Amino acid sequence: MTTETTTRSSEVLRLHAEDAFAAELAALAAQDDRPRPERWRMSPWAVATYLLGGELPDGTVITPKYIGPRRIVEVAVTTLATDRALLLLGVPGTAKTWVSEHLAAAVSGDSTLLVQGTAGTPEEAVRYGWNYAQLLAAGPSRDALVPSPLMRAMADGKIARIEELTRIPADVQDSLITILSEKTLPVPELGDETQAVRGFNVIATANDRDRGVNELSSALRRRFNTVVLPLPASLDEEVDIVSRRVNQLGRSLDLPELPAGADEIRRVVTVFRELRSGITDDGRTKVKTPSGTLSTAEAISVLTNGLALATHFGDGMLRAADVAAGIVGAVVRDPAADRTVWHEYVEGVLRERDGWKDFYRAAREHTR
Ligand SMILES: Nc1ncnc2c1ncn2[C@@H]1O[C@H](COP(=O)(O)OP(=O)(O)O)[C@@H](O)[C@H]1O
Ligand SMILES: [Mg+2]
Repeated sequence: MTTETTTRSSEVLRLHAEDAFAAELAALAAQDDRPRPERWRMSPWAVATYLLGGELPDGTVITPKYIGPRRIVEVAVTTLATDRALLLLGVPGTAKTWVSEHLAAAVSGDSTLLVQGTAGTPEEAVRYGWNYAQLLAAGPSRDALVPSPLMRAMADGKIARIEELTRIPADVQDSLITILSEKTLPVPELGDETQAVRGFNVIATANDRDRGVNELSSALRRRFNTVVLPLPASLDEEVDIVSRRVNQLGRSLDLPELPAGADEIRRVVTVFRELRSGITDDGRTKVKTPSGTLSTAEAISVLTNGLALATHFGDGMLRAADVAAGIVGAVVRDPAADRTVWHEYVEGVLRERDGWKDFYRAAREHTR
């Protein structure tokens, strides 16, 4: 590493997975004696260990990145070693983007070959574009061609990532079919093509709720193995995920450590789960569901902001008052309907709950 990259990596706001976890990835690759698919940095088994966590023979601890069913990760990793691409599907905040980044980092050592899908994603973002100055000066040539991240991944035998695939207009999605089935990207202007070399594959993510926006064509869907990322199965599991992520994010923001499963974490996650599922944790009371998604990712952000508030304006102890505003903001998206839902929940459920007096008061305070 040059001095320049060293300074840079300590100053950038968010490191790519392959930089943030460079030591873990290096240790995994070094101690991995299982067969590797061509151009993979490590074996499928080691990639799964990188995602799920574990301990290496020399004692190196691999932190878990994804917390969830092992089988899901095994199927996802295995897919990448086949000629099918991987589609991660799920409701918002189920770690689709996160898993995609870490898979690419572990398999190819590079998570940056990324196409962000939107309704305005042009074909050039999937295939290639031109540097117009060069094109006008010297005509079409390889030098004037600007490859898309996919084209680069094909040439280098790496993993390309496509975020929010279903938001991409159907005709642009179609240009993926040739890439995924023929493994080539023709460049008619040059009478040329870029053929994918071994190691190339694609990880796409798509939001469950977007289904129908631009339903994937069946031709395209057939090129993908779909893996559904579920919501955390239990309260404890979700508390565990949130605790780990809040502390990881907190460290990068110089915030103090929160004890795992701290009261406020448990309470925020409980509120989110109850409103999401429409029933209280004890299964006794039905509650109305607000319009927002109330994802795990939002719980993480409510708690991280709360911890920052407590650190900068409180005594450093995270309290109900520090998370209340964040919760109300996450729950009340539609000012009219959601406010009623929230009000009923606060008065009908939180008011009577043992040991939640401070939380109830803070919630009321912020609802007015
Ligand atoms: N099961 C999980 N294991 C680990 N982290 C999770 C899990 N579910 C959610 N997260 C966290 O939630 C955050 C948001 O996830 P993200 O990948 O952006 O969601 P999506 O792309 O599915 O909308 C990430 O910081 C991730 O760490
Ligand atoms: Mg995402």
